[in-house]
Amino acid sequence: MLKPSPFTTGTTIKAVVLLSVLLCGGIWLIQSDGVSGQSQLSQWSPNRPATTANYIGSQACAECHQSKSKAHAASAMAQALFAPADNHIFRANPQLAFRNGPWLYAIKPEGNRSIYTISDGKSSFSEPILWCFGLGHSGQTYVIRHEGAYYETRVSFFSATKALDFTPGAPRNVPTTLSEAIGQRLSKPDTMACFNCHATVAPGTQRFDLEKFTPGIGCESCHGPGEKHITTMKANKDGEVADKAVFNPRSMHPDDLSQQFCGACHRSWETVMQMPDRAGISNVRFQPYRISNSRCYKDPDDRRISCTACHDAHEDPKHDAVFYDAKCTACHQTKNGAAAKTQTAPPCPTSQTQCVTCHMPKIEPPGVHFKFTDHWIRTVKTGENYPK
Ligand code: HEC
Ligand code: HEC
Ligand code: HEC
Ligand code: HEC
Ligand code: HEC
Ligand code: HEC
Ligand code: HEC
Repeated sequence: MLKPSPFTTGTTIKAVVLLSVLLCGGIWLIQSDGVSGQSQLSQWSPNRPATTANYIGSQACAECHQSKSKAHAASAMAQALFAPADNHIFRANPQLAFRNGPWLYAIKPEGNRSIYTISDGKSSFSEPILWCFGLGHSGQTYVIRHEGAYYETRVSFFSATKALDFTPGAPRNVPTTLSEAIGQRLSKPDTMACFNCHATVAPGTQRFDLEKFTPGIGCESCHGPGEKHITTMKANKDGEVADKAVFNPRSMHPDDLSQQFCGACHRSWETVMQMPDRAGISNVRFQPYRISNSRCYKDPDDRRISCTACHDAHEDPKHDAVFYDAKCTACHQTKNGAAAKTQTAPPCPTSQTQCVTCHMPKIEPPGVHFKFTDHWIRTVKTGENYPK
């Protein structure tokens, strides 16, 4: 796999990047012919083509993987998408309104539906909300269908203010037409991309279908279709089988895990390099990109700096800064003790604890009402410009 040095941005690298996207984008093969599933997977993508095994649903995994299933069900990733009737945010905030010039936006319950209405007193618009995107740690955005097309609503809910405001990235001007006021009309590929990153292929099928899927990142979003794994493990009760017919991301190179696997949804260095202005300060949301710029990422294939060094993919992140100290000192020396052979990076002259509070600062991009953790680990200079 391509492993661009985070410090090289020459045209050769860019050409190789584009080519590699074209050549190996979205290869997701777990074959039913007895060949090891893992060796078949050369790259991970959330836009997977159809596979040769059926999806079966996360509930089926709980029978044998109880603790992982319990942890995962409570995680934000498992709850990345809601039907309006199941949306905790609508239950807690039944009346939502927002004014932009003459335009009044409202989201109101009607039976077990939630209706998105816009009016300037002369013309008005209303459609039921189809899907609610995001658990709401920072906020929640809505998708509606209007005249056969999908739209991202122009306003979103923000947890910090418990109110509607402009959707991040949406224009903030006063619309001159009703159709402009609705929100962003999504192209077919954009619609697929939204749902692919927030939902899972439906049980009993083999590919993503907009009319039939399971909301949230299920086990199989990350491990691939599970039906064959389950029949295999039921037939081999001792677990002693060479091919378990399921994908374990642990088998990936650390850089591929961070960039290709987590980065398929959280946005890799390659993806962000192709965005205008690298998405500006909003790229603080794109951890795989941010971390790859750190000097700590000097050896991209060092497992101690991959996403799973600090996060269990089945749980939300730990919020205790002390928890991460051991992750840093796996490589960095401390001033208090003799350095182990594996601690080759220099110690901090300033402090020996809560490293992340100074070196992974919290940053709030404009209009998001939420502070993200900057994964570009560095010495932050006072008054510095945000390094893009
Ligand atoms: C009938 C019991 C059973 C069910 C149901 C089951 N598994 Fe497993 N699974 C096992 C056993 C046994 C192992 C091997 C021991 C271990 O790693 O826990 C295993 C291993 C795994 C591994 C590691 C594979 C490796 O090569 O290291 C993954 C990933 C996995 N299961 C995911 C899933 C997912 C996802 C589901 C639901 C779609 C699921 N399992 C359902 C029994 C089961
Ligand atoms: C299929 C897409 C997808 C993949 C693959 C994926 N994520 Fe996520 N992740 C999401 C989405 C969507 C959210 C936002 C969930 C929400 O808050 O609604 C998220 C949220 C998170 C969060 C924040 C949880 C919180 O408490 O707010 C962490 C941490 C995270 N992911 C880590 C990872 C890691 C580590 C990997 C790779 C092992 C990974 N993710 C792979 C889609 C994905
Ligand atoms: C490439 C994958 C991807 C696509 C496409 C995508 N998202 Fe996300 N989304 C994520 C990830 C990863 C997160 C978690 C990190 C973050 O908040 O930026 C997230 C977070 C969110 C959140 C915040 C969730 C929370 O708990 O605060 C909202 C709202 C959201 N997405 C809405 C959307 C909508 C609406 C679309 C389509 C119009 C969309 N997303 C498309 C991957 C994606
Ligand atoms: C966001 C992606 C993601 C989701 C969703 C996810 N996993 Fe995993 N899973 C991983 C990663 C990454 C690893 C490898 C962990 C490591 O390297 O320590 C893993 C490892 C495993 C293993 C192997 C045991 C081990 O510790 O290596 C099992 C079993 C497993 N997952 C089961 C599940 C089940 C069951 C679900 C749903 C309840 C699930 N996973 C959901 C990413 C995910
Ligand atoms: C995989 C090993 C590894 C891990 C894990 C790691 N680092 Fe580093 N870090 C390095 C290396 C190597 C350098 C570069 C040292 C040099 O250039 O001499 C570095 C450099 C730094 C620098 C100076 C860079 C600058 O631009 O100012 C800081 C600060 C730093 N690390 C903090 C941290 C913190 C905090 C953590 C934990 C959140 C961490 N590191 C985790 C290996 C690591
Ligand atoms: C050296 C440790 C470390 C590594 C490696 C790491 N993270 Fe984090 N991550 C953190 C810390 C610290 C937080 C903030 C936890 C808190 O206080 O809530 C965090 C928070 C997050 C969040 C929640 C949103 C936010 O900005 O606070 C997401 C999503 C996330 N990480 C994804 C990733 C992904 C994807 C990777 C791999 C590219 C990764 N992380 C690698 C330490 C790490
Ligand atoms: C209170 C804020 C704070 C905390 C907490 C903190 N640091 Fe630092 N760190 C700094 C500052 C400020 C500098 C720059 C000092 C200088 O240049 O004289 C620095 C410098 C560094 C450097 C660069 C050293 C060099 O030789 O270039 C590394 C590496 C580092 N810190 C790692 C860590 C680690 C690992 C931890 C946790 C064990 C940590 N820091 C905790 C503020 C902090």
